[in-house]
Amino acid sequence: MASFKEIISTLPRRKGWTDSNNDLFLYRGFWCYSFFIEGVMSAQQNFQSQPSDIVICSAPKTGTTWLKSLTFAIVTRTTFDDSTSPLLANLSHDCVPFLEVDLAHSSTNRDPKNPLLATHVPYSSLPRSIIDSSCKIVYICRNPKDSFVSFYHFIARLSASKDMKPVALEEAFELYCQGVSNYGPYWDHVLGFWKASLDRPDKILFLKYEEMIEDTVLYVKKLADFIGYPFSSEEIKKGSVDKIVSMCSFEKLSNLEVNKSGKHREGTPGVIENKIYFRKGKVGDWENYLTPEMAAQLDSITLQKLNGSGLTL
Ligand code: A3P
Repeated sequence: MASFKEIISTLPRRKGWTDSNNDLFLYRGFWCYSFFIEGVMSAQQNFQSQPSDIVICSAPKTGTTWLKSLTFAIVTRTTFDDSTSPLLANLSHDCVPFLEVDLAHSSTNRDPKNPLLATHVPYSSLPRSIIDSSCKIVYICRNPKDSFVSFYHFIARLSASKDMKPVALEEAFELYCQGVSNYGPYWDHVLGFWKASLDRPDKILFLKYEEMIEDTVLYVKKLADFIGYPFSSEEIKKGSVDKIVSMCSFEKLSNLEVNKSGKHREGTPGVIENKIYFRKGKVGDWENYLTPEMAAQLDSITLQKLNGSGLTL
């Protein structure tokens, strides 16, 4: 049987968003770096989901770090509070395992007390056991203009720390519009989960970054209800929800020492400075980077792609 590497070497490929020779490959309709595709293939073969699992799904740069923090804080609130939470000393990515990296080869290396896992895999390529089991999926999406700008800065900051050069913003923009971004096309990613959430509203909670920023308390309660960890009226009276919202706020998390100077996956080739996951956390920052023409181009692709879906971004 062909190895994963052999299969990947036959896939269509495009240059990634940096000057390194790290290409993006088209696997089952989405573009991805080979390292992650190997993880996805392996997870498809090996990962066994449990009914109690809560799977946090997203395309990159849509609010994953925040959603992981909120969900982790909700699930662990009877063990920890806002002065003892592991989120105060660890990046949320270190509290929630990543399917295609941490759990790709085995489902047995999980903390049995932690039902959370996360993935960027599109709905159509999720391991069968996640689709078939009664586990819950929570998906977050974001306006594509802000998501693109966030993505570009992430790659630029990552490149600086790894001695690489990012492509120019205009080139990355063209690639993004063509769907060529890690786990892109972005719109297909969002639509996959959107349609699945309409078919299976009891299994998939579909969230928007902008709506969560607008009324975080409301969405934290919704999230908690959906994943089976509802807040009691006693907890609400005691301010439990507000404490979680404030502990997971951009201001609080981005100013923690661990998120200013710590590193994720230290000692591995995938090492990333934690601070790269925190930039501005604002809605509408695209206005500072995209020309009106670029914004119109992205809006028009978004309108065309989402046409008839009932979804707006
Ligand atoms: P910006 O680059 O627009 O600031 P992801 O977590 O999926 O990688 O997405 C990263 C984006 O989420 C970044 O957006 C980052 O600043 C923002 N973010 C990180 N933590 C956040 C938080 N606690 N609240 C709101 N936004 C947050």
